[in-house]
Amino acid sequence: MYKKIEELAWKYNDRVVEWRRHIHSRPELSTQERQTAALVAEVLTGLGVEVRKDVGGHGVVGLVKGEKPGPVVGLRADMDALPMQEDTGLPFASANPGVMHACGHDTHTAMLLGAACVLSEMRSGMEGSVKLIFQPAEELNPTGGAPGMIRDGVLENPRVDALFALHVWPGFETGKIITRAGALMGASDRIFLTASGKTSHGSAPHQGIDAVMIAAQIVGGLQTIVSRVVAPLDSAVISIGTIKGGYRYNVIADRVEMEGTVRTLAPATQDRLPGLIERTAQGIARALGGDCEVKYVRGYPPTMNDPDLFRRVSETVADSLGAEHFVALDNPDLGGEDFSFFARERPSLMAWIGCRPAGKDPAEMAVLHNTRFCPDEACFPWGVRFLTSCALDFLKKKA
Ligand code: NI
Repeated sequence: MYKKIEELAWKYNDRVVEWRRHIHSRPELSTQERQTAALVAEVLTGLGVEVRKDVGGHGVVGLVKGEKPGPVVGLRADMDALPMQEDTGLPFASANPGVMHACGHDTHTAMLLGAACVLSEMRSGMEGSVKLIFQPAEELNPTGGAPGMIRDGVLENPRVDALFALHVWPGFETGKIITRAGALMGASDRIFLTASGKTSHGSAPHQGIDAVMIAAQIVGGLQTIVSRVVAPLDSAVISIGTIKGGYRYNVIADRVEMEGTVRTLAPATQDRLPGLIERTAQGIARALGGDCEVKYVRGYPPTMNDPDLFRRVSETVADSLGAEHFVALDNPDLGGEDFSFFARERPSLMAWIGCRPAGKDPAEMAVLHNTRFCPDEACFPWGVRFLTSCALDFLKKKA
C-alpha cells in the first residue's frame, strides 16, 4: 500500500506544485477565501469526490467513499492568508497587495488536494471514508474558522472518528514529520487594557494622573505574572503588542490603550490568567491614582494530540516514509492553532512537516509570518504521503 501511495504522490506532484503556486499568487484573507474555495471545489468535483461548499463560511468538504463501509477519518487543511506585504521575490509571489501566504496555508491546501487525488485512486478495497476538510479563517483569532465548520456539521453525516492535519515548519529539514503526544501548540488568548488617568499640563504632573506612567508600569508588571506567579516549569507568555495614547508632548495623557496576546499550555493556567492580569493591572493603576479596564478574550485552546494516535502515527511514518523521518518533539510551541477546536471534539493529531532545504542554514530560513517565508516545495510528496498513509492506516486498524 505504501509503495502505491508513493507512486501516486509523485504522479500528482506537478499538479500539487501548480495548485500551490496558483493559490500563493492569489492569497485571500480570513473569511474571504472565495477563489481558493472555488478552486478546491472544482478539483474535488473533477475527481468525482462528493463535495459540500460554504461550510462555516467558505469551507469546502469532500468525501472520498471507500468501496465498503467502515470508519471515517478527517484530513484538514487551512486556506487563508495574512495581511502582509510579500517580499520573497518569487515569480509566483502574491499579486494581491498587502496579502500574503506567510503561514504556508497555500501549501497545506495543495497537499490535501494531492492527497485527494491519491485517495480517489485507492478507493477500491478501502473500508470506510476520508473526509477532506478545507477550512477558512484559521488566522482569525479568537474566533477561528474551525468552530463555524463544526457548527455547520462537518464532523457529522457521516460522523468523523478521528482527524489529522499538517503544518509546514521551517525549523526542520524538508520531509521530516514532527509531532508529540499531548499539547503540541499553546492556547492563544487576547487582552485589551485601557489605562485611565487625568489630563494636566506636562509641566505640572501633580495636577493630573499620568496614564502613560500607569501603562508603562503595567507593561513591566504583567511580566511578573510570568516570572513570579506561574510555576517555573509551567509555561505562559504575555506580550503587549500595541500601545496607543496621549495627545501632545506637553500634555499628561488621561488614556492609554494596550493590546496583547497571552499564551499558555496548561488549561488550569489559562483559567487563572484573566484574574491575575486584572488584579495586576488594576492594582498598579490604582496605586498611581488611576484605573485600568481589562478585557480578556479567550481564543484558541491548546492543540492536544491524542496519545494513542501519536503512537499509531509514529508507526505509520516509520513504515511509510522511514523511521528517520519521524521526530518526536520534546517541547510544544506556544503558537496558536485553531485545529485545536477539532481536537477538542474528536481524537486528533497535528504534525509539522519540515520545509527547510537540506543544507540550508536554519538562521537563513525565514520563519512563519515573515514577509520572506518560503517553504521548500520538495516537502510536498512527503506531506501527501503522510496524510494519505495516516488516513488509510487509520481505516485499516480501526475496522
Ligand atoms: Ni498557520
